[in-house]
Amino acid sequence: MKKRSRRLTAMAAASTITASMLVALSGGVSGTDRAAAAEDPCAAWMDPADSPSERADALVAAMDLDQKLHMVTFSNPSWFFYWGTAGHVSGQPELCIPDLVLSDAGSGVAGFQIATTTFPSGVVQASTWDPRLQRRLGRAIGAEAHLKGINVMLAPGMNIARTPYLGRNFEYFGEDPFLASRTAVSVIKGLQQNPVIADAKHFAVNNQETDRMTVDARVDERTMREIYLPAFEASVKEARVGSVMCAYNRVNGPYACENPTLLTDVLRDDWGFDGFVVSDWGAVHSTAPSANAGLDLEMHAVEIPLPESSVTGTGGRFFGADSMKAALAAGEITQQRIDDMVRNIVRPMFRLGLFEDPVAPGAEPFLRDVTTPERLALAREVAADGTVMLKNRDGLLPLDDASPDGGRTIAVIGWAANPIGASNATAGGGSSHGSGLPPRVVSPLQGILAEARDRGDRVVYVEGSAGVDAELAAAAADVVVVVATDGATEGSDRPDLGLRPSACVAVFCTSLPSRQEEMIAAATAANPNTVVVLDIGGPVRMPWLDDAGAVLVPWYGGLEHGTALAEILYGEREPGGRLPQTFPRDEEQASFDPAAYPGVDDTATYSEGLLVGYRWYDAMGERPLFPFGFGLGYTTFDYSGLDVRRTRQGAVARFTVRNTGDRAGSTVPQVYVSAPRATGEPPRQLKGFTKVRLAPGDSRRVTVRLDRRAFAHWDVDADRWVVSPGRYGVLVGPHSRDLPLSGTVRR
Ligand code: GLC
Repeated sequence: MKKRSRRLTAMAAASTITASMLVALSGGVSGTDRAAAAEDPCAAWMDPADSPSERADALVAAMDLDQKLHMVTFSNPSWFFYWGTAGHVSGQPELCIPDLVLSDAGSGVAGFQIATTTFPSGVVQASTWDPRLQRRLGRAIGAEAHLKGINVMLAPGMNIARTPYLGRNFEYFGEDPFLASRTAVSVIKGLQQNPVIADAKHFAVNNQETDRMTVDARVDERTMREIYLPAFEASVKEARVGSVMCAYNRVNGPYACENPTLLTDVLRDDWGFDGFVVSDWGAVHSTAPSANAGLDLEMHAVEIPLPESSVTGTGGRFFGADSMKAALAAGEITQQRIDDMVRNIVRPMFRLGLFEDPVAPGAEPFLRDVTTPERLALAREVAADGTVMLKNRDGLLPLDDASPDGGRTIAVIGWAANPIGASNATAGGGSSHGSGLPPRVVSPLQGILAEARDRGDRVVYVEGSAGVDAELAAAAADVVVVVATDGATEGSDRPDLGLRPSACVAVFCTSLPSRQEEMIAAATAANPNTVVVLDIGGPVRMPWLDDAGAVLVPWYGGLEHGTALAEILYGEREPGGRLPQTFPRDEEQASFDPAAYPGVDDTATYSEGLLVGYRWYDAMGERPLFPFGFGLGYTTFDYSGLDVRRTRQGAVARFTVRNTGDRAGSTVPQVYVSAPRATGEPPRQLKGFTKVRLAPGDSRRVTVRLDRRAFAHWDVDADRWVVSPGRYGVLVGPHSRDLPLSGTVRR
C-alpha cells in the first residue's frame, strides 16, 4: 500500500509540476492560475528560465536536514527490487523532486529490465570510430531509458583496456585514451539529449576485475593524466556528463570513493565538474572521509546491517541519516558539505530537464515494450559498422561476388550460432547484461538462413563441439561459417586468450568448458573457404589463423547481430570496424609481471607507465597478431599528398584518400603524433581520426585538426600540461602499423 501511495503521490507531483509549468510558461496568468501559482510551493526553483545553479540554491534553501539527507543515499526497496532498476532515490513530492531512478548500462537498458533493445556493447561502439553514429546510439539508449521510467543511465564505462584479460573490456572503449575520449563524449552527448543523466564510470584506474573491491592501483601521476583520466576529463569538460561513478578499487592508497585527489582536486578543482559523484554499488567504506573527499550519493545493492568496519564496504549504510547526523554533530562533516552534496545532485537534474519531465516507475513502464523498428535498425547498423574484418583471403567475402546466382551449400557451425548460444553473445556478463526477455535475439544461424533463402543457397547447421561433425560438415560445404564466442563478464578477468562460451541467467553469467578452438581448427583445415566469426569481448589467440579463409570480429553485437553478420557475409553491408585494442600473438607476448597484473598483496603496480597497448608494442618493437586501428573492408584505399601546417594552438593535417577498389566502402584515416624523444613520450600516439566513405574511384581531400593537447605531455613538477619545444612527427594512414604519410611540425 505504501509503495502504491508513493507512486500515486509521485504522479500527482508530476501533474502538479506540469500545471505549475504551464502557468510559468504560459505568460498569461488568469485569476485561477494566479491563485494556483501563488500556492505552488516549488515556484522558487521550478522556473526553467533560471540557471540550474540558481534553481539548486533555491531548492536547497527550502529543504530541511532530513529532506537533504534523503537525497544522498539509496532508497528502499533497493537495487533490482525497485522495478528491475539498479536503484533509486525516491522523489519528494512536497518539493517537486522527482524519483531519481538509475539503471545499467552501456549497451542499453539492462539488468532485470525487460522489452528493451540490447545494442552492441561498448567495444563495438568504439570499433566504429564514428562519433556521429555513437551519438545516435547514445540518444537511442537514453530514449528507451526514459520510456522505462529511468532518468540516470549508468553509462558509458570508459576504463582503459590495460590488459587483454580484463573481464569488462567488452563494456569499454579500448586501449587508447584519445579513441576512448571521443567515443565517450559522443555517447554521453547522445544520452543526455533525453531528460536522462549519463554517468562516466568507473572513476578511476579500474582496469581489472581480479580483486576489484580492494586492489590498490598504484600509478604515477603522469601515466594517470595521460592514459587513465583523459576519457573522464573529456566527459566532464566536453560532454558535461551529469554524474561520475567512483570505482571499487583503491588508487594510490585511498579507496576511489574516499579519494580527495580524484574526487575534489582533479574532478572539481581542475576540471570544474558540476554534477554528482555516485558510488559504485557497495564501494563506500566510510561516512565522513567519503563525504569530505567528494562523494555525493551512496548506492548499494542491499542494506546488510554489517559492522561498518567491514573491509569490502558491503553492508552498512554510510550516508544514512543516523550516520550523517552523528558525523555532523561530531564536527566530522559540515552543513555546507551536506548542502553541496544535494546541490551537486539536483543541479544536473535541473540542467537536463528531469524536473520538467519526471519519471514514475511502476508496472506499466516496467512491462512496456520500448523497442522500435528504427532502434533495431540502428542496432544492426552499429553492429555492422563495428564489426572488424581481420582477414579475407582471395576476396572470399562478400559471398555475392563469388556466385551471384547463389546455389551454394553453406555450413554454419558452432553453439554460438544457434539461438540459445547467440542469446549469451549479445552482451557480456554482469550489470550491463540484459535480461534477454522477451527472447528476440537474431542468431547468426537465423540471420544467415534469412539471407540464404533469398539467394537460393542451402544452409546446413551442426553444433560442432564434437569436432568430427564440424570437419564433415565443412568438407561437404561450398562455404563454411564457424561461429565461436568468449563469454567475458564483470566480476572476473579472463584466465587466458582462449574461447569459453558463457551461460547467463539475467546478469549472472558463468563460463563453460569448450572445444571451440578444436572446432575452428577442424573446420578451417577441412575447407579453405571457412569464415571464422568471433563473438568476443576482447582479444583472443588464433592458432588456426593460417588455415582460415576469412576472420570477422563482431564482438558482442546486440539483439540484431545475426542479421548484421548475414548482411556483411553477403555484401549488403561492409564490416566497418577498426580494432580499438591490440590483438597479441599469444599469452607469452601478453604476459605481465604479477606485481603489475593482477598484483601482489592486493597491490597492482602500473610499472609499465605510459606503455599501454600499442604504445608498448611500438616501444618494444613487438609485432602483434593484429595492430591497434587495423581492419579490412570490401574495397581498398590509398593515401597521398600530406600537408601539415602549424596553427596557433596545434596543427592541421590535410591529405587525400582515394577508393582504389571496385566497391563503395569506408576507411578510417588515423593521425598519430610522435613527440621528440626528450619528452619521454611513447613512439607514436593517436591524436586524430575521421571516417571516410567513398564510391569506387572517388577521392577526397581530408582535414584533421590537432589541438594543443595533441602535442602536450603532463609535467608533474609544473602540475600541468606542457608542450616541449621541438620537431613533432605527424603520421597518417589506415592503422597504427601502416602510416604511409609523414610530415613534421615545430612547436
Ligand atoms: C556494479 C558495476 C557498475 C554498475 C553497478 C550497478 O557492480 O561495477 O558498473 O553500474 O554495479 O549495477
